[in-house]
Amino acid sequence: MSHAEDHEGTRRDFLYYATAGAGAVTAGAAVWPLVNQMNPSADVQALSSIRVDVSGVEVGTQISVKFLGKPVFIRRRTQEEIDEARAVELSALIDPASENPNKPGTDAADQNRSLDEAGEWLVMMGVCTHLGCVPLGDGAGEFNGWFCPCHGSHYDTAGRIRKGPAPENLHIPVAEFVDETTIKLG
Ligand code: FES
Repeated sequence: MSHAEDHEGTRRDFLYYATAGAGAVTAGAAVWPLVNQMNPSADVQALSSIRVDVSGVEVGTQISVKFLGKPVFIRRRTQEEIDEARAVELSALIDPASENPNKPGTDAADQNRSLDEAGEWLVMMGVCTHLGCVPLGDGAGEFNGWFCPCHGSHYDTAGRIRKGPAPENLHIPVAEFVDETTIKLG
């Protein structure tokens, strides 16, 4: 081996090790969060409660967030939607229960479904109570609320089942306002 070749070989080795070293640092940084996520308590903590900033949600619109692996609809209702929901006789409802763990044992009156007193905020699991499809929102269906196209379930502006095979109102998750623009789920 000539001196020149020997020098080149050394340089290649150096480059190789330098690259490997940088790679190890990157891999180390990438592996840590994965290991951290696999820690059961961290996993449960991350899933059991989330905070959602709703400051950007305009009246008459909704957002969907993922919570416990399922969609949650957060709708900021118009006064018209609130009035429509509050005008419904309880006797017209298929499911007479609020399905709201934040107000356990209450009936399905709109006041027992909304998150705030005024009824502007409606927070519900986006899971049809028939077989679990995700209903369409934004005034969908015959009752201007949500419609599940899988088998034709119509929910009203309070997310209560009004027509179709679904047996229960859209379920409400444990939720509360922790400040004016933040909703905590779980
Ligand atoms: S899953 Fe919604 S109507 Fe069947």
